[in-house]
Amino acid sequence: MKNLAILCSGFGSNLQAIINSVKKGKLKANIALVLSDKVDSYALVRAKKAGLLFVFASPDAFPDRESYDKYLVKKLKVSKIDYVLLAGFMRIVSPYFIDNFKNKIINIHPSLLPAFKGTKGIVDALNYGVKVTGVSVHFVNEQLDGGPIILQESIKVKDDDTAETLSVRVHKLEHKLYPQALKLLVAGNLTIKNRKVLIKTEK
Ligand code: GAR
Repeated sequence: MKNLAILCSGFGSNLQAIINSVKKGKLKANIALVLSDKVDSYALVRAKKAGLLFVFASPDAFPDRESYDKYLVKKLKVSKIDYVLLAGFMRIVSPYFIDNFKNKIINIHPSLLPAFKGTKGIVDALNYGVKVTGVSVHFVNEQLDGGPIILQESIKVKDDDTAETLSVRVHKLEHKLYPQALKLLVAGNLTIKNRKVLIKTEK
């Protein structure tokens, strides 16, 4: 069984969706570690409630991004992590981190990439006035929100949508799409060819 580490900064609803999927036996993987860069993130509470190993790692304790990432990589290697899942982890990971987990880091993003990269995907899409937005699950590479896309699904934006109402639908879709992508990943059904992720369908 593959060992997963889930890195979060905030509410952790995607973490919860992954926990639920593992608990139901739909996602056959082991959540070996939950890590947060924020001491008060609710993700840590969720991890504790689920009986998972969790750790708060403060970036303030390190002089720069790379030394923090070196510490994270060490922690992840100790736990024999196969895949690193970013779930609302609001930090840019360094090239050092990416090199150590090449094509083994996955992220979820609340827009149809490459549109609306960054930390405000939902609000940026709404303010731009798009009629359709969505969710992307992708491999992480050196480009910000720019790695090969595993799954994407769209959502219609309504005329009277606010950031709150749109967020509800985006998150609902995220909670479906992330576990779905992870199932494909741990089953070994994903191959990266140039920028494309080829998905082997189960017979
Ligand atoms: C999610 O919407 C995720 O897509 C987004 O942060 C939220 C975390 O929610 N990530 C990014 O914007 C990354 N650029 P959660 O803590 O409830 O899972």
